[in-house]
Amino acid sequence: MSSQKQSVIILGTGSYVPDNIVTNDDMAKMVETSDEWIRTRTGIRERRFAADDEATSDMACKAGQRAIEASGVDRSDIDLIIVATMTPDMPFPSTACLVQSKLQLPNVCAFDVQAACSGFVYALGIASSMLQSGNFNKALIIGAEKTSPILDFKDRTTCVLFGDGAGAAVLSREEIEGAGILGTIGGADGSDPSVLQQPGGGSAIPASVESIQARQHFLKMNGKEIFKQAVRVMGQASADILEKLGYETSAIDLVVPHQANMRIIESLAKRMEIPMEKFHNNLDRYGNTSAASVGIALDEAYRAGRIQSGDVILLVAFGAGLTWASSLIKWQ
Ligand code: ACO
Repeated sequence: MSSQKQSVIILGTGSYVPDNIVTNDDMAKMVETSDEWIRTRTGIRERRFAADDEATSDMACKAGQRAIEASGVDRSDIDLIIVATMTPDMPFPSTACLVQSKLQLPNVCAFDVQAACSGFVYALGIASSMLQSGNFNKALIIGAEKTSPILDFKDRTTCVLFGDGAGAAVLSREEIEGAGILGTIGGADGSDPSVLQQPGGGSAIPASVESIQARQHFLKMNGKEIFKQAVRVMGQASADILEKLGYETSAIDLVVPHQANMRIIESLAKRMEIPMEKFHNNLDRYGNTSAASVGIALDEAYRAGRIQSGDVILLVAFGAGLTWASSLIKWQ
């Protein structure tokens, strides 16, 4: 490494959502709900569900390919892939390994990160540290999620909230000072996994006729408890990263929050005293895409011209675990 200060910057972003649009009215044909209830309680109008033959790795590849193209990087220069997902193609091998093969990336270290909806920001922090170490040069990080197969379409309190998709970014260590990913923090509290979990399918409750009959392979959530925790940890994670890096709230040009519920985002905006115009949201169109949400929103914001050189961007997320993470970026 040279003596000049190096920074890890985002060279390109990409995202992908499946073609199949499922509106709130479509959901109302499956469970007892209404467009009005879903919109007013969550802000969601529609979501995308992947095709039966479209796995998480397929969506990850489409987002990853777009990020690689946007970055201008030669794929043989990418030496790290991290895929954040709670809905991998299969328990193993990792989805990152499947992406390595499908995208034909010849020289990579590849692994998955499981931090549920905080996954993209966790992956950003891990990749950034690995690049800063000098042992890796260019990373492809992808948040990808096919939530639709783990949704219980008999449970109206959860199935209306989630969608499928993928968001990606190519990161590079460059000889630039004071720009790029300024810092990332993450946290976790695993004391009560029951507030949000998929209980079946792992070593605790392996797949069996009984586990399937008991619907244990579907996502279960205590929405009220998660809501309370989300407002608290998103606010704390945002305040902590600003304090750690010595930034004032007023320095933030754009917030890209995890897209779970518009009321959670509004509470965060109020708590941080940041106007809603400074938030990039797409919850109305995609619902909660879990680990993909921050990556998709970041790509959309960049492609919409909402991110300019010198802008300070806050990424903040929370998810099952409970996990949370935040990152502050100064766009190069
Ligand atoms: N349609 C119609 N009625 C419904 C629906 C629905 N889809 N879902 C619940 N209801 C009913 C309930 O049964 C209840 O009826 P009751 O009063 O007769 O019992 C009523 O609506 C109110 O239900 P609440 O649970 O009190 O609704 P609330 O205002 O809390 O909103 C929600 C529920 C939207 C789930 C909210 O709690 C929430 O967003 N929580 C956070 C969820 C979240 O962020 N999850 C993602 C975590 S990230 C990850 O890692 C995956």
